[in-house]
Order: sequence, then C-alpha cells, then structure tokens
Amino acid sequence: MNERIELTKDYTISRVLNGCWQLSEGHSLQAGLDFKDVMHAFHMLAEQGFTTFDGADIYTGVEEFIGTFITELKAGHGVSADDIQIHTKYVPDINYLSQVDYASTERIIDRSLKRLNRDTLDLVQFHWWDYDVPGCVETAGSLLRLKEKGKIRNIGVTNFDTVHLKELVDAGIPVVSMQAQYSLFDRRPERRLLDYCRTNDIKLLCYGTLSGGFLAERWIGAAAAEPETRSQVKYLQIIEDTLGWDGYQDLLRLLAGIAEKYKVSISNVASKYILCQDGVAGAIIGIRNSRHVQSNARIFGFDLADDEIGRIRDFLQEYPAPDGEPFELERTVGSKYRSIMHMNINEKEQS
Ligand SMILES: NC(=O)c1ccc[n+]([C@@H]2O[C@H](COP(=O)([O-])OP(=O)(O)OC[C@H]3O[C@@H](n4cnc5c(N)ncnc54)[C@H](OP(=O)(O)O)[C@@H]3O)[C@@H](O)[C@H]2O)c1
Repeated sequence: MNERIELTKDYTISRVLNGCWQLSEGHSLQAGLDFKDVMHAFHMLAEQGFTTFDGADIYTGVEEFIGTFITELKAGHGVSADDIQIHTKYVPDINYLSQVDYASTERIIDRSLKRLNRDTLDLVQFHWWDYDVPGCVETAGSLLRLKEKGKIRNIGVTNFDTVHLKELVDAGIPVVSMQAQYSLFDRRPERRLLDYCRTNDIKLLCYGTLSGGFLAERWIGAAAAEPETRSQVKYLQIIEDTLGWDGYQDLLRLLAGIAEKYKVSISNVASKYILCQDGVAGAIIGIRNSRHVQSNARIFGFDLADDEIGRIRDFLQEYPAPDGEPFELERTVGSKYRSIMHMNINEKEQS
C-alpha cells in the first residue's frame, strides 16, 4: 500500500505519485508504448492506493489519457473516481509569456478540465520559463482568481527557485506545493529550497527520484547507456555532471547491498531515501507500463535504518551536486540542460 499525506487541510494525496510525462507523445525514443497495459497499470495503481497522478497541460495526449481513465472509473470500472487526485500543470509557452493574461490562462485551465473530465482541478502546478519576462506574479494571481471561481482546488508551482517562490508567497498566492527534481544525483533542493518549503509549509513533491529508471539492478556492470526515453536523456546529463559513470556504478552497488537486507530493490531504496528526507511530501515515479507496480508497492513495507541513510549521505557528499538552485541550469541560456527542453508546446491553444 501507499502512505498518504495532507497537502492542505482537506486534501490528501498518496506519497508516491504516478508520473505521466513518459506517456506523452514523442517521449519514447525507441518502441512505442502499449497503452492498454498502461491503462491496466493505472487501475492496478489506484487499487493499491497509488491514487495521485501527475500530468501537465504540455504532456501531449496525457490529460486526455487520464480523462479516459476517469471516464472508465465513472462508469463503475474500478475504484471511485472521487478517490483519485489529478495534478496537472500550467506551463505557458516561453514565446507567449509577455502576452499571458487572465483570459489565456482561463482557456488553458478550461481545456485541462475538459480533457481530464473533471469539474475542478485538484492541483495546478504553475511554471514560468523566464523570470526576466514580467508577469509571473500576476499570472499566479489569475490562477488564484480561477481558484476562487471554483475551477482550481489548490495552487502549486514547479521548477521555481527559492527567491521567485518567495515572491509568489509574499504576494499572497497560497502555494501548497513545489515540484522539483530531487534525487540521489540531484540534491540542489538541499541548498535552500527544502528549508524554505519546510518553514512555509509548502510540500515538496520530487521528480527524478528514479532518474528515468537508472536506479535499478539492470544497470549494475553496464559500461554505458543508450537513452530509451526523453527522461533518460535528461537524467543522464545529471549523472554525467555529478557522480559520473564510475561513481554511479559504485552507488548502485551500495544501494544493492542495502536492498538485499530488506529483500527489496535498488529503486525501492532510492525512493525511500528521498521520501524520508525532512520536508519531502511525495516522490513522483514515472509510469510507462505495469511492470513495476508490485515492486513500488513495497516502498512502504520497510524503513531505512539511520546508519544506512548516513552511509548513502556520506557517499553522496564525496561528489558534486549540480550547480545552483533547482532548475537554474535548465534556465541558463546555452546550457545543455536547456537545449533538450521543449518550451513552446501550448502554442496553438493559448492565444
Ligand atoms: N516538473 C517537471 O519539470 C518534471 C520533469 C520531469 C518529470 N516530472 C514528473 O515526474 C515524473 C517522474 O519522472 P520520470 O517519468 O521522468 O521518470 P522516473 O520516475 O525518474 O523514472 C521512471 C522509470 O523508472 C523505472 N522504474 C519505476 N519503478 C521501478 C522499479 N520499482 N524498479 C525498477 N525500475 C523502476 C521505469 O523504467 P522502465 O520503464 O525503463 O523499466 C520507469 O519508467 C514524470 O512522469 C512527471 O510526472 C516533472
């Protein structure tokens, strides 16, 4: 089963969330996905208490797919649709940032409602590509108006740095959660963000916890990797700039030793390590098939001992974390991190 946590007073989610980026069009770089199996996985997850799904307006085809799942549940197949939490994002295009206004924001939110087959969006996670373009706080204000109108239940953010998150909070935006990359390779949130979130009761929802599947037994002894997904392209960059391939292999062996003691997997240990950090509310684990549902159900069946957490932490201290705040490298013009991102996916619908 899955642990649950209150994101706000009347809103509870599963601590392992089902990440849906990998279901978006073009994400898989090799064979396509078996969506029948993915739907099967959604039902299995929901039945095992993994009731919270993470999508986005810019994950092409994903809101529609989750909407089909909701339609199946409403038709009486599986758990109640009311027991499912759907988190989406609002990611205005970088080329459109200067034109974003209340009306364009409402159009995107209405589109998410329609695609997801919901009357209200449980959580909208706001993203702003470029802080140099004015309008970030005002646009968050538009989301607040839509919350007051009943279209949005909770407002969260994703990929903000601490300074700009604070700007929103200081402007009175009731930010309940922050979604950021946080994994054994990417410990940027530990610099400032985690502390700020803890102090301001903003729940951290982490992505990259399994680094696209690289934290798994099958990579032990591998000499290199050919990315199968856009996720793996992204996380390979992080591995390269932190532990490097040899350090990564040493980490896998360290985690395997701990996993063996509890009869769990390397992925389970990697997830647990992130989930037990103070201030972490949830870990988002990407879904693209039904293969790992049973394994991930074991995450809550064991606890890491303090000395095991300490051994992992001490090991990681020997290696650099990526520079700066969460998403700072990704925002830096000319960086390899930025070059792999698609920043204009909403184009057609938002104007
Ligand atoms: N806000 C943002 O900018 C942002 C960015 C990235 C991601 N996200 C969110 O975070 C989610 C998670 O990230 P992600 O999808 O990139 O990938 P991920 O969670 O880092 O990795 C998922 C992969 O890990 C493998 N896996 C899962 N459970 C496993 C287990 N028990 N044992 C072994 N392997 C296991 C699977 O690989 P195989 O399928 O190869 O077996 C799966 O595809 C996304 O889907 C998205 O919702 C948000």
